[in-house]
Amino acid sequence: MLSAKPAAVSALVIFPALTAATSYSLVKEYSGSTFFNDWSFYGNYDNLTNGDAIFVTRDVAASSNLAYVNSAGNAIIKVDNTTTVDYNYKRNTVRVASTDEYAVGSVWVADMLHVPYGCSVWPAWWSQASAWPSGGEIDTFEGVNMVTMNQVALHTSHGCTITGAVQTSTLVNSTDCSYDDNANEGCVVTVTSTNSYGAGFAAAGGGVYVTEFSEVGINVWFFTRSEVPPALSTNLSVDTSALGTPTVNYPPTDCDINTYFAAQHLIFDITLCGGTLTALLSHLDFAGSSSVYAETCGTGTCYTDNVIGNGSNYASAYFEIQYVKVFSNSSTSTSSGSGNSNRGDRGAAVGAGLGALLGLGIAALALALSV
Ligand SMILES: *[C@@H]1O[C@H](CO)[C@@H](O)[C@H](O)[C@H]1NC(C)=O
Ligand SMILES: *[C@@H]1O[C@H](CO)[C@@H](O)[C@H](O)[C@H]1NC(C)=O
Ligand SMILES: *[C@@H]1O[C@H](CO)[C@@H](O)[C@H](O)[C@H]1NC(C)=O
Ligand SMILES: *[C@@H]1O[C@H](CO)[C@@H](O)[C@H](O)[C@H]1NC(C)=O
Ligand SMILES: *[C@@H]1O[C@H](CO)[C@@H](O)[C@H](O)[C@H]1NC(C)=O
Ligand SMILES: *[C@@H]1O[C@H](CO)[C@@H](O)[C@H](O)[C@H]1NC(C)=O
Repeated sequence: MLSAKPAAVSALVIFPALTAATSYSLVKEYSGSTFFNDWSFYGNYDNLTNGDAIFVTRDVAASSNLAYVNSAGNAIIKVDNTTTVDYNYKRNTVRVASTDEYAVGSVWVADMLHVPYGCSVWPAWWSQASAWPSGGEIDTFEGVNMVTMNQVALHTSHGCTITGAVQTSTLVNSTDCSYDDNANEGCVVTVTSTNSYGAGFAAAGGGVYVTEFSEVGINVWFFTRSEVPPALSTNLSVDTSALGTPTVNYPPTDCDINTYFAAQHLIFDITLCGGTLTALLSHLDFAGSSSVYAETCGTGTCYTDNVIGNGSNYASAYFEIQYVKVFSNSSTSTSSGSGNSNRGDRGAAVGAGLGALLGLGIAALALALSV
């Protein structure tokens, strides 16, 4: 995973490239009736984050109205809230990954009116390289249960840390991005405005998340609806220097972008509970962990109090997306990937982390038994 190192040296040598262009041209728009054309649906139960969810196929998503374009022309990605699920069964939901992947030198913009929330609900708008942890992961939007603030994170192979980050309205939770440190917590930054997530996001009319994936750093901007800048309404290009100070900035100082990151598939997913086993093993905080669940949903059990039953508690568990646009600083920076949604995703990320942890656990157990 750490074999592709020589690039680090050359990239560091050309460090003056910090003045790289900030103007990007539109290369892909996902919107309106064709929104779902170029995404692959996972089509398997959540074997990635241990969620109590089935990520349905494209056909099931369409026939059961879990992924569709509404009468306003916006894309809906949601949890099934009309089927009664019995004990021991999982609930249907959606995970889509872009068939295209976008290289260093890209910007993606998601304009949303609503994001999923609710007890047991764990949504994310994120990206990941096919060979994760090599090639890295960028989590632009993520949260669990009834939290009110968005969390941004990077997950990389070993050696990427964040120092000297410039952030506005944020709290830095952790600075080591490596998947094999801190049980793959990643370098997490919390966006402290309560209109960045949940009911607060929708009440403000939604907003726009911008992710800049550049060799001079990874930046995320969050704009609540009333503050979306004019620089985002020129449809054919975006100049990130006109967006103001990023909400979250990951500088390349101790994390050379070309070393730790490669072309990314864009992903929307919503899982339910999840991460419990990982949490037990690693103290990681996920939706299903009882301590995390208790923080915003009170005393109860994530699965039995939410997933099973008639699903009426999932009426807020949906994304409503006006568009996703991808911009590039070069006409060759987008490539048609393999629709590689079954690998190299956050799920694989956590799954792999879990596998590693389980491996460790099993090794430790074997050791204990052999002593
Ligand atoms: C999840 O299931 C799919 C389909 O069976 C399989 O291709 C993939 O390897 C599995 N992933 C993990 C991490 O187990
Ligand atoms: C585009 O971005 C890539 C990666 O950040 C960079 O190497 C390249 O120099 C940029 N091209 C221009 C024209 O700025
Ligand atoms: C990050 O820090 C904030 C503020 O202390 C806290 O509310 C949040 O739970 C933390 N997130 C993680 C992942 O530790
Ligand atoms: C951008 O696209 C939207 C939707 O198609 C359109 O309403 C708007 O006029 C366009 N703006 C510009 C500056 O072209
Ligand atoms: C769904 O289940 C909840 C909780 O058991 C209950 O309060 C509600 O009335 C049910 N709704 C319908 C339409 O059956
Ligand atoms: C299901 O959720 C949708 C919003 O996605 C809501 O309009 C609808 O009323 C919900 N249905 C039930 C039965 O709760």
